[in-house]
Amino acid sequence: MAESSEYLTATAQAYDAMAVRYAEHVNALAGRMPLDQAMLTAFAQFVRTAGAGPVADLGCGPGHLTAGLRDLGVDAFGMDLSAEMIRLATAAYPDLRFEVGSMRDLDLPDGGLGGVLSSYSLIHVPPVELPPYFTEFHRVLAPGGHLLLGFFESEGEPVTVFDHRVTPAYRWPVDRLAGLARDAGFEEVARLLRRPQEGERFGQGYLLMRRP
Ligand SMILES: C[S@@+](CC[C@H](N)C(=O)[O-])C[C@H]1O[C@@H](n2cnc3c(N)ncnc32)[C@H](O)[C@@H]1O
Repeated sequence: MAESSEYLTATAQAYDAMAVRYAEHVNALAGRMPLDQAMLTAFAQFVRTAGAGPVADLGCGPGHLTAGLRDLGVDAFGMDLSAEMIRLATAAYPDLRFEVGSMRDLDLPDGGLGGVLSSYSLIHVPPVELPPYFTEFHRVLAPGGHLLLGFFESEGEPVTVFDHRVTPAYRWPVDRLAGLARDAGFEEVARLLRRPQEGERFGQGYLLMRRP
């Protein structure tokens, strides 16, 4: 057990050290990612329409997307492994709830959420460790709840590790990720793949899934 959680400790420490720079980076991108924003907006609309409960922004970082969901009329809260990220999020958005924790083992009841947002927060999970995360997302979502996943796409290659500027990360073929989510009981609603924008190295993807 200790061995399999070493990557979580490493991830938390790396984001603690880089939290201020990461927050500056995402703030500089505000308003410059129309396709990413379109998926967040669609996700928010699906969640509002289903009316199945609040949204957990898991691996929320500095909280900008939690606040974005709030601005889209969604009851959202954030959670992150990194205490420094949670400190920044709480300072920036004092009206929202943020807490430290791991999305691998959520301290949340079964079926209480209308949505889970995992925006680039599964990217550091070693592939062999990934299936239980989807099981956990499925457990905490209510029937009719939605999952929005943001990730780096592998562009025709198998799962590939790369030197992410914070800590090593993985690029995934969209079909493999969608398959893992389906194995956990999700059905696919939509997917979006986009080419790298200026300053990015890789294509990026979004999967919108629903718990039937
Ligand atoms: C690349 S950042 C993404 C932050 C934000 N969601 C965004 O889209 O900009 C990845 C975040 O996920 C968090 N994270 C990684 N693994 C996690 C886990 N198992 N549980 C909770 N947070 C995690 C990291 O601490 C980091 O803040």
